[in-house]
Amino acid sequence: MPNKIDLKTITDWSVLIGTGISIYYLCSRLLNDAEIGPLGRSKESRQRQETQWKRLCEKSPDFANLELNAYEQSILASVITPEEINITFEDIGGLDHIVSELNESVIYPLTMPELYTNGSLLQAPSGVLLYGPPGCGKTMLAKSLALESGANFISVRMSTLMDKYYGESNKMVDALFSLANKIEPCIIFIDEIDSVLRERTSFDHEVTANLKAEFMTLWDGLISSRRIMVVGATNRINDIDDAFLRRLPKRFYISLPNAEQRSHILQVLLKGTELDDEFDLEAVVARTDGMSGSDLKELCREAALKAAKEYIKKKRMQAKEGETNPDATLLKVRPLRTSDFTGVNEEPNNLGLD
Ligand SMILES: Nc1ncnc2c1ncn2[C@@H]1O[C@H](COP(=O)(O)OP(=O)(O)OP(=O)(O)O)[C@@H](O)[C@H]1O
Ligand SMILES: [Mg+2]
Repeated sequence: MPNKIDLKTITDWSVLIGTGISIYYLCSRLLNDAEIGPLGRSKESRQRQETQWKRLCEKSPDFANLELNAYEQSILASVITPEEINITFEDIGGLDHIVSELNESVIYPLTMPELYTNGSLLQAPSGVLLYGPPGCGKTMLAKSLALESGANFISVRMSTLMDKYYGESNKMVDALFSLANKIEPCIIFIDEIDSVLRERTSFDHEVTANLKAEFMTLWDGLISSRRIMVVGATNRINDIDDAFLRRLPKRFYISLPNAEQRSHILQVLLKGTELDDEFDLEAVVARTDGMSGSDLKELCREAALKAAKEYIKKKRMQAKEGETNPDATLLKVRPLRTSDFTGVNEEPNNLGLD
């Protein structure tokens, strides 16, 4: 019978449809991989690249005429515009002496390049290195430099540059410098620079050695441009290759804060926080010897948490007692006391919230 669909036809069609679906998924998977592929362009990073590009073009409409290659576009995701940074020199405590030197080494060359022309006695350094123990404000300083100088900021991670695909790393390094050139004034910030540029040894993988050579050539090329500055940060200055150290002639040691610096940092961190009339800043300073800026921040956070926990406990109790309590509307978070920071004279923890 002509209308009769035999089993063979059904099987053939099912196989055909099944194969079609498999090919479709295979192709879409491959296309997706190719997109994420060598440049690591996931959907999120593509979105970030587009947002950053829009931001840059809004600020400098001339940029809209620039052509960026695929590698430069992938570096775009690491660009931070000064408008996105909210750390000013005011937010950094105890580093005034370094801030004023950084003004001369970084801010003036970026904002007044005419002062550093060829033949001028003034020379802009080819790079600046911030080094010292962790949590003392190196990254903060670098970011605030971008805000204060109005320069775009490219914060480089080794993972972005050290691409797993052979030969891509050099292209990424090229792109880093060429993008910085296009969006100048620009600060190229290389955090943990020791891991990028660790001493070249004969055991270095060939790709890494090439990458370092490329980096140095491009870096030297920057000397002609006064509107790009390389700022490096590290905890381990001894691990940095000598050739790179030479290119970072201005070095600033950011040490653990001394008593005076801790006092400044605490004042900055506690700005806007209500403190008890009896609050003794000097007592806190005396008990925080050896702490870094980030330790102090954590201490302040924990102190604020203690007051917040007491507030929550009282609020819960009031809720139990009902609204008859005339003080209910007067409930406030209490000002911070010295004991919140030092742990001395602390009441036993009976808040039941831990
Ligand atoms: N001098 C300072 N003034 C105010 N806050 C500080 C200071 N130093 C550190 N902090 C606080 O510590 C946090 C960490 O600082 P930052 O990231 O700059 O340290 P770092 O030196 O870059 O550390 P790492 O070497 O681990 O990268 C900052 O976000 C800030 O809250
Ligand atoms: Mg850092």
